[in-house]
Amino acid sequence: MTTQTPTPIENEIKLNPKRYIVSKTDSKGFIEYGNDYFVEISGYTEAQLIGQPHSIIRHPDMPKIVFKMMWDRINKGQNIMAVVKNLAKDGSYYWVVTEFEPKVDPITNKIISHTAFRKAAPQNAIDTMVPIYAKLIEIEKEGGIQASEKYLRGFLEDNNTTYDEFIDKLVGNKGLFKIFFGMMKKLFS
Ligand SMILES: Cc1cc2nc3c(=O)[nH]c(=O)nc-3n(C[C@H](O)[C@H](O)[C@H](O)COP(=O)(O)O)c2cc1C
Repeated sequence: MTTQTPTPIENEIKLNPKRYIVSKTDSKGFIEYGNDYFVEISGYTEAQLIGQPHSIIRHPDMPKIVFKMMWDRINKGQNIMAVVKNLAKDGSYYWVVTEFEPKVDPITNKIISHTAFRKAAPQNAIDTMVPIYAKLIEIEKEGGIQASEKYLRGFLEDNNTTYDEFIDKLVGNKGLFKIFFGMMKKLFS
């Protein structure tokens, strides 16, 4: 009789919808702080996270273009929201709506740090983004990030929307998320 090694199954971590995940990085994306829930969900210890590049929790199902857009935006001192699939240490994953916010020194006008506020993503947002991200990844494998950027631009144009409008609509930013991210900013700034 032959024994078969079972294929590892990626488990989804169901986040507590009442809790939030916050992390802060330096201007280059190296982790400087994570709140208790960030540490707990990551599966790492706080000491293992601090000083690491934030890509330590990057999930391979996330297309490169999402992070490129995010960095382009925050490097200009502007916020951006994204639906993100993150990877925990043991290979399990969780979906979050994330608001990335740069902090600019009012005197030098230079970016000092970045903060990310996250909450469990609504199921409809996950269901919408899964095929879009899969398509973007497929395109990136063939034609790189320029090709996925072009596809994304075309997708938004076809839907007569902008990235921000699309995400706002998807996660209901007008309501709870907006209030929540507003509160978080006051707490962590
Ligand atoms: C404040 C802040 C929070 C971030 N949070 C995440 C995150 O939750 N998940 C993630 O994959 N990348 C996050 N990033 C982006 C990473 O720095 C990185 O750009 C991304 O993981 C892609 O990694 P790669 O360029 O090495 O592929 C964050 C960056 C900043 C500045």
